[in-house]
Amino acid sequence: MPKKVLYADDDAGLRRLVERGLGAHGIEVVTVEDGVRAVERLKQEQFDVVALDNYMPRLDGIATLKQIHDLPNHPPVIIVTGEQDSAVAVSALKSGAFDYVLKDASGQFVPLLLAALTGAADAMRMRRAKEAAESELREQRDRFEKLAVERALLLREVNHRVANSLQLIAAFLQLQGGSSNNAEVKAALTDATRRVMAVAQVHRRLYTSDDVQSVSVDQYLAALVEDLAKTDTTETPVLSLAAEPIDLDPDRAVAIGVIVNELVLNAMKYAYPQQEKGPIRIGLKRVNGRHAMLSVEDDGIGHNVKTLPRSTGLGRSIVGAMANRLGADVVYDPDHHGTRVVITFECAPRVNPS
Ligand SMILES: Nc1ncnc2c1ncn2[C@@H]1O[C@H](COP(=O)(O)OP(=O)(O)OP(=O)(O)O)[C@@H](O)[C@H]1O
Ligand SMILES: [Mg+2]
Repeated sequence: MPKKVLYADDDAGLRRLVERGLGAHGIEVVTVEDGVRAVERLKQEQFDVVALDNYMPRLDGIATLKQIHDLPNHPPVIIVTGEQDSAVAVSALKSGAFDYVLKDASGQFVPLLLAALTGAADAMRMRRAKEAAESELREQRDRFEKLAVERALLLREVNHRVANSLQLIAAFLQLQGGSSNNAEVKAALTDATRRVMAVAQVHRRLYTSDDVQSVSVDQYLAALVEDLAKTDTTETPVLSLAAEPIDLDPDRAVAIGVIVNELVLNAMKYAYPQQEKGPIRIGLKRVNGRHAMLSVEDDGIGHNVKTLPRSTGLGRSIVGAMANRLGADVVYDPDHHGTRVVITFECAPRVNPS
């Protein structure tokens, strides 16, 4: 039920009737004698519902209704019209009246008016509640989106710093290797440099791409291979990469990078001992939907030769640990002439850009 109602009617008898009838239900009723006054009154104070007699001098009910609808936050309007006049009722509804009530001279219509006013007030309350809920929802979504943007920015920043710090460590190791006169120390520090750089590259990729949570492994490997070629001191190897676009989470991308790093380093060191040039091929491709296959191969002497004295075997155990992370086995292809290592791991199926 509405608390406060504005009723406009030029008939003083009906005004009193309505005032008394609605007042009996505890409703505060303000009455005015025409549409112009109704609009003035609405500009000054809030009403839950407005009821307008349609036949009034100066401004009739529907014309008043139109003026009321131009007011901000206007209450719903009910048109009260003579019993025979259904055409007015139709045009009232068309003009946006919430409802209409057919009146009679004896005042029998007051209960009908009360029902219409109550319906309008309830509908308005529900609409306001719905609007409030919707705007709350919108606000929350906006806040969430803002947070997500901030979070991505922060992650990017963190990855940037991590990458820079790792790069710095790699540079220290390289400097230290360069200042050593011992060939073995030099070689060990070069290996350490490359291992650190393999991890640094993942963070670099994470802050340079749009996506801060996954890594395009193909692009990552391209950068990594470029790094490896740069730090290579011998002239023998010729690195080539053929990688299909595959996205992985940072942890698994690191695992792939470290594996490639170790296997390429091994191929550089051992595959072609006689100084002759030979290819080192790195491949990454999808196999049967949910899996991807990583391969590193050379056409060298093969890995089954006697382990060199300075071998630490560290590379092999790093590769094993990283493959474990990927939930994959390290397979040495027995049919390949030279060394071919294949690692097949699970990855999310490709999403078709549509
Ligand atoms: N591509 C390859 N061609 C020929 N021999 C290989 C190849 N990869 C590995 N090997 C052999 O396997 C051995 C073990 O490699 P692994 O990476 O485990 O150790 P490492 O490379 O000698 O030491 P580290 O990795 O610590 O530098 C190597 O010493 C080498 O004899
Ligand atoms: Mg090795």
